[in-house]
Amino acid sequence: MTNEASVVRAVRHGDVQVISISNPPVNALGVAVRQGLKQAIEQAQADAGVRAVLVVGEGKAFIAGADIREFGKPPMPPSLPEVCNQIEASAKLVVAAIHGPALGGGLEVAMSAHYRLALPAAKLGLPEVNLGLLPGAGGTQRAPRLMGAKAAAELMLSGKHLSARAAQAAGLVDRLAEGEDPVAAGLAYVNELLEQGAPLRRTRNLAIADKAAALAELDALQADTAKKSRGLFSPLKIVECVRAAVELPFDEGLARERALFVECLNSPQRAGLVHAFFAERETAKVPEARGAAPRALNRVAVIGGGTMGAGITVAALDAGLPVVMIERDAESIARGQANVEKVYNGLIAKGRMTEEGKAAILARYTPSTSYEAIADVDLVIEAVFEDIEVKKAVFQQLDRVCKPGAVLATNTSYLDIDAIAGSISRPQDVIGLHFFSPANIMKLLEIVVPARVSPDVVVTAFELARRMKKIPVRAGVCDGFIGNRILAVYKQAADYIMEDGASPYEIDEAVRGFGYPMGPFQVTDLAGGDIGWATRKRRAATRDPKARYVEVADRICERGWFGQKTGRGFYLYPQGARVGQADPEVLAIVDAERQKKGIAPRKFTAEEIMRRYMAAMVNEGAKVVEEGIALRPLDVDVTFLSGYGFPRFRGGPMKYADMVGLPAILEDIRTFAKEDPLFWKPAPLLEKLVAEGKDFASLNQAR
Ligand code: 3HC
Ligand code: NAI
Repeated sequence: MTNEASVVRAVRHGDVQVISISNPPVNALGVAVRQGLKQAIEQAQADAGVRAVLVVGEGKAFIAGADIREFGKPPMPPSLPEVCNQIEASAKLVVAAIHGPALGGGLEVAMSAHYRLALPAAKLGLPEVNLGLLPGAGGTQRAPRLMGAKAAAELMLSGKHLSARAAQAAGLVDRLAEGEDPVAAGLAYVNELLEQGAPLRRTRNLAIADKAAALAELDALQADTAKKSRGLFSPLKIVECVRAAVELPFDEGLARERALFVECLNSPQRAGLVHAFFAERETAKVPEARGAAPRALNRVAVIGGGTMGAGITVAALDAGLPVVMIERDAESIARGQANVEKVYNGLIAKGRMTEEGKAAILARYTPSTSYEAIADVDLVIEAVFEDIEVKKAVFQQLDRVCKPGAVLATNTSYLDIDAIAGSISRPQDVIGLHFFSPANIMKLLEIVVPARVSPDVVVTAFELARRMKKIPVRAGVCDGFIGNRILAVYKQAADYIMEDGASPYEIDEAVRGFGYPMGPFQVTDLAGGDIGWATRKRRAATRDPKARYVEVADRICERGWFGQKTGRGFYLYPQGARVGQADPEVLAIVDAERQKKGIAPRKFTAEEIMRRYMAAMVNEGAKVVEEGIALRPLDVDVTFLSGYGFPRFRGGPMKYADMVGLPAILEDIRTFAKEDPLFWKPAPLLEKLVAEGKDFASLNQAR
């Protein structure tokens, strides 16, 4: 348990009171810290022997902000704005010495001090926007006074962290110091200020220069933000607060900030974004991590240099690992190497990398057509054609050449990893590492855990994700794992909606209106319709003959319309356009299919479309959790947030379902089941939760 006594310590160094915050892991400003800070500042005022106060953080952070876990709970005094005002009002000099993250409320505390010192590892930022919030402890009023209105608004809108040097250049920091010890560097600075008789420089009293120009800049920023913030609530409120900083006296500005902060705090977007923040940090907590340590991970190999093999190679090179790439023959390996180089050449063309930088990275890259070249690697990732026999043949080679204990991973999208593992002599070393395309960019990594794998192999996979800065999600073996399995079901729902009356364009528009960057038919066109077509043909023999099957996509593929790469798919892409246009011929195909099946088209509102789309997603998500394919509902959420473009402010499909209310979702499914009971079978887990009056969140805590 934390208490004021232990989380905030006050120690005298001569006539300077050093107030240190010690609330691991990141010194978040929970109620005990706020109380402790308040008390320590009061004591310093009362103690005649104290001439100045130095505020520092213990451990790695200065202060990483408000305690995010407290949002949505009843507020506990003192409030952070109150503590910040009290620091600023101190009759004795207050200096903040920042040696690590000073984020959100942490930077607001620092901006309330009279002077700020930063050490090299300092990171300053106001990232509240990422949580659906705005700086709510005076940050929107103080930052503009220190760094100018436009720069302050941009810092808050981007959520970016500034380095010590950049923060000094921006006006947030008064002095830089070397080293890692904020107490030593801070004391030296405080004593220097005392010697100089430096004034108590209260940020609230600083003027914003050229208010007319500042307001004009904010107008432009507001217009730009309205365009770019795509349904997000807090960005425009941030601009409004900064405008108040320019136009209003400080205390009125603070009151305005408070009112808008509370609006953001109460918005469902805040709940969704905070859920996303914690969920992304929870997914690495898996049962295997409890007793196993990762195996060595110094050299890796990638088999296949196509789309995925090349992307995975770049991801591994960027993580600092040496990579051997294996291809079938000289021609293929040359293509594989070209695929890798293309990524770095792109960065050079954009001015984000030099030729020397590229050469330094490629020095760790070894292309080869001989499996003997991978005899000593620690981990292999196979990314050859999606064909179980081809993959089994590759794994035979791996079994033959790899050293004992090497981790053998497959990037398969759908295939049975248990079967691949069972086909070689070391199933305990085989795991799935399902990257997403482009593999060097997309954050999600599904770590697919087959039955016979050893726990330390699972832990090694999570270690690889950490080094590659990926967001790992543990998944079980099934057709499509977590993501592609659920995708297949809601894509099917979209097809049914289309055949029943909505155009693909209306469906895409509804899905974008919900917050996705693209709708499902746009995604098909981007990925290439031929991929899904091949899968459908492969599965045709095993498909349930009673299940409804929509043939529109097949009709489109039969014409050779595979999407963007062929200039048309569900949309038209004249002259290589990247944004598609509606195609009357596609609508005619849809109509013909409806007529063939005797379907009289009906109208769907965007809301009706989304209710079906989301009900299908949530229902399959519940099945995936129930079967243990996903450890918890939050693992489904993170999969969709980081791999499938699900709008982050909604927290993920399962969080969305909790917010809508599970009874309403179940009710929808039961209604839709009257039309098609085979497709709309309620997940037993969903029925159970509704019967017990529980939500998905109750399962996040339970495991
Ligand atoms: N409140 C509560 N817990 C926090 C937290 C916070 N502000 N910031 C981080 N944590 C927790 C994490 O959940 C994690 O917990 P776990 O170990 O139980 O999973 C632990 O601290 C370590 O966090 P990370 O895994 O993220 O550690 P890193 O070293 O990778 O990153 C960090 C450190 C850069 C500080 C990163 O945690 C971060 O960006 N934190 C959030 C910062 C933020 O958004 N601050 C603004 C808060 S809102 C605010 O201040 C409102 C105010 O204006 C009124
Ligand atoms: P691709 O066709 O672009 O590349 C496959 C490569 O494997 C080719 O370069 C081919 O020459 C090589 N190859 C084939 N047999 C080989 C062998 N025996 N030894 C060495 N190399 C061999 O295919 P892509 O898209 O890269 O897919 C690869 C794997 O990744 C598949 O299992 C696929 O399901 C999976 N995947 C694909 C995603 C995508 O979006 N394309 C996303 C996630 C996974």
